Amino acid sequence: MGHWERRPPGWHNSQMSSPTSALPQSIDETQALLAHADYVAERSLATAVFLSLKLTRPLFLEGEAGVGKTEIAKVLAAGLGRRLVRLQCYEGLDVASAVYEWNYSRQMIEIRLAEAEGTRAREALSQDIFSEKFLIRRPLLQALEGDLGAAPVLLIDELDRTDEPFEAYLLEVLSDFQVTIPEIGTIRAKEPPVVVITSNRTREIHDAIKRRCFYHWVDYPDAARELEILKRKAPEAAAKLSREVVAFVQRLRRMDLFKLPGVAETIDWSKALVALDKMALDPQTVNDTLGTLLKYQDDIARVRGSEAERLLAEVRAELAAA
Ligand SMILES: Nc1ncnc2c1ncn2[C@@H]1O[C@H](COP(=O)(O)OP(=O)(O)OP(=O)(O)O)[C@@H](O)[C@H]1O
Ligand SMILES: [Mg+2]
Repeated sequence: MGHWERRPPGWHNSQMSSPTSALPQSIDETQALLAHADYVAERSLATAVFLSLKLTRPLFLEGEAGVGKTEIAKVLAAGLGRRLVRLQCYEGLDVASAVYEWNYSRQMIEIRLAEAEGTRAREALSQDIFSEKFLIRRPLLQALEGDLGAAPVLLIDELDRTDEPFEAYLLEVLSDFQVTIPEIGTIRAKEPPVVVITSNRTREIHDAIKRRCFYHWVDYPDAARELEILKRKAPEAAAKLSREVVAFVQRLRRMDLFKLPGVAETIDWSKALVALDKMALDPQTVNDTLGTLLKYQDDIARVRGSEAERLLAEVRAELAAA
């Protein structure tokens, strides 16, 4: 995880990579902020984002894979000019990986050096050995470090992958925005970070966490919005191809498949088709490229061939009528 860089001592980070912007003052402004970073949000999502910023409550996003949950946090950080601190959750995630850890090897080296130097050095070191100099800050601690008006965006990604003890710990951090390190004391955020939590709902997240957040279910986009996303994320595709791609994917999502394609797959598919110099869909190409849309062999086997041909005929009829 690239965000775990160690920084020089000094608790607060005043050097931001870009100037911080004021929080949006309305739902329209929120929608504009997201659109500026090429995120096409429906109004209900923009509303949830706006309220979570305005009332400083975490934003809890649930939804199927590839519908743009993680991207929201990235876009918010970019749009607000805040640092993005990402905590990727996994089974067995613990405090040492999520909050802080003592740098044992560095402590050992300093101890050896002090031993070689003599009594005075040993005494000085004993005052120093559990100071910030030897502390490795993990994402949750980093997220408490922002200055006023420049608190980072904390992305807690795929919370459903952790276990319940960690969830309970997180609840504590999210209620008080402080962390206690026995050897140092309590570290409290000057200003709470902007928190975005995502879950793919492989298990239910505890009500106590959800209650503290604004909840939003991120749904698949409708055709108009998905076309707008393609315009921004795969602009190299011909307009006709984009329309066919969207109409085809929207139809696929009405089928009873094991795993429906997300927005990420729609973008991938468009790019794949452009790479193959396609200006429009044809049955052979659809069959050959289904693997960018569907990731389970059973699903591919169901769609390939006559089903793909039927969907494509429907798509053509729909677009001809429009
Ligand atoms: N509304 C949208 N506007 C613009 N791009 C979008 C939108 N929704 C999704 N995308 C794009 O789709 C891709 C997948 O998004 P993202 O990784 O955020 O999905 P996710 O919901 O976090 O998926 P997963 O559950 O697999 O982690 C990204 O490249 C993102 O830019
Ligand atoms: Mg994600």
